Amino acid sequence: MQVLVVGANGMLGHDMVAVLKARGMNVLARDLPALDVTRDQNWDDLPTARWVINCAAYTAVDRAETEHELAMAVNREGAGRVARWAASRKAHLVHVSTDYVFDGFNGPYRESDPVAPLNVYGQSKLEGEQAVFGVLPDALVVRTQALFGLHGRHFAGAIQRRLKEGPWPVRVVDDQFTCPTYTVHLARAILCLMDALATGTVHVSASGQCSWWEYARAIAAEAGLEPKLEPIPTSGYPLPARRPANAVLCKDRYRVITGEDMPDWRAGLKAFISETSEKAGAGL
Ligand SMILES: NC(=O)c1ccc[n+]([C@@H]2O[C@H](COP(=O)([O-])OP(=O)(O)OC[C@H]3O[C@@H](n4cnc5c(N)ncnc54)[C@H](OP(=O)(O)O)[C@@H]3O)[C@@H](O)[C@H]2O)c1
Repeated sequence: MQVLVVGANGMLGHDMVAVLKARGMNVLARDLPALDVTRDQNWDDLPTARWVINCAAYTAVDRAETEHELAMAVNREGAGRVARWAASRKAHLVHVSTDYVFDGFNGPYRESDPVAPLNVYGQSKLEGEQAVFGVLPDALVVRTQALFGLHGRHFAGAIQRRLKEGPWPVRVVDDQFTCPTYTVHLARAILCLMDALATGTVHVSASGQCSWWEYARAIAAEAGLEPKLEPIPTSGYPLPARRPANAVLCKDRYRVITGEDMPDWRAGLKAFISETSEKAGAGL
């Protein structure tokens, strides 16, 4: 079965391609510069696919506050363009979105809860979801959160670097809560949802939840690093984009559809750190 993965070189895209290939699927992996979701070029040359998985996104949350047009071009218009291509080929579409569509005042969030993004990135992703459903009402939109994986930049990597190199103590907010999610686990979950022919919005992130401070402590423990960390409130770490304090996603719908629970975030972290050290040991 032919599957087109757009944004295939990104953190999730990379693992998505690997998980699909491991299932024996015929994967067309595309990313910039060959396939740009903000442009019409090259789409007509793509072979037909039975499934399209859109992992492409503008993900620079803070920069988006000043790069509004680019964020919208990729996350809203780009999402619509991928959906139109999928519709023209009668392909099923999986589109990936974010917990940042919520304001974080009332988590955990179900799929039907009201959305209210606090920042430009969240607004652009929300408008992307709307663009997708406007074209393909039967699309699958997977909202996820706090991703980490072997092929991208993320908090788990940044904390390890800071713990090794300083300056110490490394200050981490302890009043924002999330579900840190390993991209390999998310990619497998997306495949389970495809098997079930799920449609509509589905929340998928790791089981359990933690503050970013608890997450940093767990990273230090798992990586065998001294936890030179200091918990601070969000007010002590001002950033250009506001973040939701608690946008923990409720996974009940995922469980009903697939009959599965997502792995706990600590299991994801353990798997990620052991894979990182194996790769480092092998000089990769
Ligand atoms: N990372 C998180 O913590 C997180 C949390 C919640 C939801 N999500 C969502 O999960 C999905 C995957 O995120 P990720 O962390 O894997 O993102 P990522 O690592 O930034 O990957 C996104 C990929 O899309 C590509 N891309 C950017 N602009 C494009 C364009 N105009 N046309 C085609 N491809 C383009 C990027 O290429 P370049 O690198 O060259 O720009 C990159 O390869 C996204 O929808 C994101 O919004 C992520």
